[in-house]
Amino acid sequence: MPKTKDKPKKKNKKKHKNKMVEQTTLADRADRYALYGLSVQEPANEAEFFNNTYKQLNGKEPRILREDFCGTHAVCCEWVKLHKKNVAYGVDLDPEPLAWGKANLQPALTDEQRSRINLYEDDVRSTAEVKADVLAAQNFSFFLFKTRDALRGYFAQALANIADDGIMVMDMMGGSDCHIENHEDVRTIDTDVKGFKKFKYIWEQNRFNPITADALFHIHFRFKDGSELDKAFTYDWRFWTLPEVTELLLEAGFSDATVYWEETDEDGDETGEFSPASEGPADPSWIAYIVAQK
Ligand SMILES: C[S@@+](CC[C@H](N)C(=O)[O-])C[C@H]1O[C@@H](n2cnc3c(N)ncnc32)[C@H](O)[C@@H]1O
Repeated sequence: MPKTKDKPKKKNKKKHKNKMVEQTTLADRADRYALYGLSVQEPANEAEFFNNTYKQLNGKEPRILREDFCGTHAVCCEWVKLHKKNVAYGVDLDPEPLAWGKANLQPALTDEQRSRINLYEDDVRSTAEVKADVLAAQNFSFFLFKTRDALRGYFAQALANIADDGIMVMDMMGGSDCHIENHEDVRTIDTDVKGFKKFKYIWEQNRFNPITADALFHIHFRFKDGSELDKAFTYDWRFWTLPEVTELLLEAGFSDATVYWEETDEDGDETGEFSPASEGPADPSWIAYIVAQK
């Protein structure tokens, strides 16, 4: 009786399939670049800040952006949306985030916008074919250069890669909280990504060496089913200070390097707006920009 013989086989198959689904955790299904983007990136704000800052300094709009350490080139994708003549160049050593951005961020652009993005799997210290109006190095990426010579060398190449009235913009973080070891900063991120709804973003300060200023950080993601993407990203950095970096920019040949500090409202709350400053409060955890002019 083939019918009855076939039936249990089918049932077994289904059981096996269900078991496979049950065994898949949210961490197994998570996309670390998507979670990273949701947790730490605000590429539209960055693109707008670069545009406005260049305009304030030069009285005209920038057109060419070079995004060093671009990763998923999220800022490039926003830059080409800002103006139909904007062109973006993204540079990163790692082909994986570049490909992720192509597959996951570029589909939201029109063909014409996509045609104005140029990606290079290359070292940021390479010579640019086209000189940029704005060269951006975001998310503290230059902290990976650990000596004054290495950082000055990168800044000198960046200077050569921008146009005569070009600017270099980079973000920095600091404050006494950043020197605490084995410290976790946990934030809950709401998302409409199917199946996830909420997840926890964990910024772990694992080690800080006061003698070298070397610092080791990890990003982990935790999910509502108890699963975790442990060490989704790891950063082995030198924790540079604002005066060190502004001095090195001038030593590399930039004519000016100014700190842009975050403004506060009448209640003392941060507004997300940054303006030039030469004095700031002793904030235990701050983020600032440095804007350097050729
Ligand atoms: C902290 S991630 C930043 C990614 C992106 N800028 C962001 O805002 O999220 C640092 C990136 O720099 C890249 N990278 C590291 N050293 C590099 C180098 N010498 N030249 C080009 N890219 C480099 C890594 O592959 C990584 O994608």
